[in-house]
Amino acid sequence: MQYDFDTRLHRLGTRSEKWDEMETRYGVPATGDPAGIAMWVADMDFKSPPAVNEAVAAMAQTGLYGYPGAWHDHDEALTSWLSRRHGWNIHPQWVLRMPNVVTALHLIIQAFTGPDEGIIVQPPVYPPFLLAPQNNGRKVLENPLRREEGPDGPRFVMDYDNLEEQCRNGGKVLILCSPHNPGGRVWHKEELSRLAEICLKYDVLIVSDEIHHDLVYEGHTHTMLATIAPEIADRTITCISATKTFNLAGSMLGLAVVQNAGLRARLQKTMHAAGLFDPSAFGLAMSIAAYNHGDAWRKELLTYLDGNRQLVQQQLGTVNGIEPMRPEATYLTWIDFEKTGLPKDAIIRKLQQEARLALNHGATFGTGGELCMRLNFACPRSVLQEALDRIINVFSG
Ligand SMILES: Cc1ncc(COP(=O)(O)O)c(C=O)c1O
Repeated sequence: MQYDFDTRLHRLGTRSEKWDEMETRYGVPATGDPAGIAMWVADMDFKSPPAVNEAVAAMAQTGLYGYPGAWHDHDEALTSWLSRRHGWNIHPQWVLRMPNVVTALHLIIQAFTGPDEGIIVQPPVYPPFLLAPQNNGRKVLENPLRREEGPDGPRFVMDYDNLEEQCRNGGKVLILCSPHNPGGRVWHKEELSRLAEICLKYDVLIVSDEIHHDLVYEGHTHTMLATIAPEIADRTITCISATKTFNLAGSMLGLAVVQNAGLRARLQKTMHAAGLFDPSAFGLAMSIAAYNHGDAWRKELLTYLDGNRQLVQQQLGTVNGIEPMRPEATYLTWIDFEKTGLPKDAIIRKLQQEARLALNHGATFGTGGELCMRLNFACPRSVLQEALDRIINVFSG
C-alpha cells in the first residue's frame, strides 16, 4: 500500500467533534484506562490524500485568503470526476455551492415547500433528514424501510406501496439517501427507477443525497439517480460533495446539482435570501486537489475499509443476539441488538460505560432504530480490533 491507514492519529485536542465532544455527548472519556474510542460522527481517523494537504500548504504559503472567485478549475475538476467515475455529464452552471449538504437540505425544504407541508423520508436514516423538516416547521412523512434477508444477510428494501400512500398523503419532497446511511445499501437501478416513477406520478420533487457515492465496495455499482432518465433528472436535485470521500468535512463545501433551470433559480433565490453567495475558498482548493489527484488514495482507502468491514462482520456476527448489517457502501455498520433481549438503556450502558465506546444511538435515525447502534469503522485496524474485542467481551456470557 502506498498510503498509510494504520497509524493511530491523536485527534483529541485538534478541535475534532468526534473526539473532543465524545465525553460531553456520550459520557465516554477519550483518556483513561481503557481510553474511550470514538466511533460515531461520520468522519475518518485517517489523514486526507497528500494532494489535499499540498493544496492547503500552497494556500498558506501565499498568505492570501480573500474572497474566492472565478472557480473554473473547480468546475473542471468536478465535471471530470462525475463523468469519469459516474458517467454523469453535467454542465457547470447546474451546480450550486453551499457550506455543506445539510445546509442544502434545509434550503431545499424552504424553497420548495410551505409550512406544514410533507417531506417524505425513509427511516432509519441519517438524522438531519428528520431534523431539516422539523427545523423548518414541515411535516415528516415516513416511509420506513423494510428489513429482508438478502444474499449477505439482512438488508433494507423500500416499501413502494407505502411510498405511494405518503405521496397521496401530501408529500411534496422526498429525501433519498443513496447509498443509504445507516444501512449501507447501494440501491439497484431498478429500485431507483421504481421510486422515481412513483414520485413523478405524484409530482414529488426528489432530493437525492448521494454524498457516499464514491465509497462503494466491489461487487456493487452506484447509479446516480439523475442519469436514469431525462424526466427523472428534471425532477431531481442531487446533493454531493468531496468531503465524505476524502475526509474533508471541515472544509465546508457541499453541492446541489440541479439540471432543471426553474428549480435551480428557485433554490438560488432561497440561498440568496439566506445570504449565501461565496463558497469556502478552502473547500474549493481541497476538493479540486482531491478530484484531480485523489483517486489512487480513494481506491486504497476502499480496500482498507473493506478489510475493516469484513472484520466487523466476521467478529460481531459470532456474538449471540447481535446482528450487524453488511454495508455495500460507506464506512458505517448498522448493528441490531434486538435479539440480545436487552432494553435500549442497557445496550447503551454496556457500550458506553463498560466498553467505553461511543457509537451513534439508533433512535436518532428514526423509526426502526430504537434497538440499533451505528458503528463507524473508518479507523486503523488495530483500533477497530480493540473496539470489537470490547463489544464481544461485554455482550458475551
Ligand atoms: C447522507 C449524508 N448526507 C450528508 C452528510 C453530511 O454532509 P455535510 O457535512 O456536507 O453536511 C452525511 C454525513 O454523514 C451523510 O451521511
